Amino acid sequence: MAERKLFFKLDGQSPVAESLRVLRTNINFIDENEKRTVVVTSAIPKEGKSFIAANYAMSEAMVGKKVLLVDCDLRRPRAHSSFGIEDHHGLGEILLGGKNVEDAIVKEVEKNLDLLPTKHMEHNVTEILQSKKMVSLMKELQESYDLVVVDTAPLMVATDAAILSKVSDGVIFVNGYDMTSKKELMYAKEMLSSAGANLYGMVVNKVDNSGYGYGYKSHGYYNYNYKYYQDYIKEDK
Ligand SMILES: Nc1ncnc2c1ncn2[C@@H]1O[C@H](COP(=O)(O)OP(=O)(O)OP(=O)(O)O)[C@@H](O)[C@H]1O
Ligand SMILES: [Mg+2]
Repeated sequence: MAERKLFFKLDGQSPVAESLRVLRTNINFIDENEKRTVVVTSAIPKEGKSFIAANYAMSEAMVGKKVLLVDCDLRRPRAHSSFGIEDHHGLGEILLGGKNVEDAIVKEVEKNLDLLPTKHMEHNVTEILQSKKMVSLMKELQESYDLVVVDTAPLMVATDAAILSKVSDGVIFVNGYDMTSKKELMYAKEMLSSAGANLYGMVVNKVDNSGYGYGYKSHGYYNYNYKYYQDYIKEDK
């Protein structure tokens, strides 16, 4: 088995652990439904979508929810590597008809947390993700889990996340600190709102806790709600 790439001690005292608890509490506060599907996306690559998706999924699994993390980033699948899993075939084959759901799901990558990985695909990805088969697959998965977390491609790369927001209850928008331009943020926001997405809020990721901007050593992240996100966009005009 390959090495696991993430996981802070989520029950520990680190700022990241604390931020994850805040994120979990905020979403539970905003959306009172017991069961939900959450899409995680961002404007551009490498802002930390897969990191946040996996750790948010973990944080809810830790408090007893039955959670499934689905890798819908067929263009750059990474969810499996967070858990040290090398064989990452799953969603792509289900949608193309070569695998059934039960065989594709990797059970208990952590306690209460299952994973539906995917293979890499380059062609017709958007079409595949908006197919009837995908819609019925999501319904099936939503019946079996309390929480389905969907990892996606960045919105500047593809409309996938906006399409997937239609089969979800809400979206976590990840923003890598100091990584995106106003134009990119506006574009991503526009794509989500024209899809009618319900934005739970924005996670500002890769914030250096020392306050001196981006730092490689002490990544942490903070949560801001939708209102702050709107103000942020306005102030930059
Ligand atoms: N808060 C964080 N603390 C520590 N490392 C982080 C954090 N956020 C992201 N990383 C690391 O930064 C890199 C990029 O993150 P990740 O793969 O989650 O980004 P992504 O938005 O999913 O990228 P892509 O667009 O390629 O899918 C990874 O190596 C990840 O482990
Ligand atoms: Mg990713």
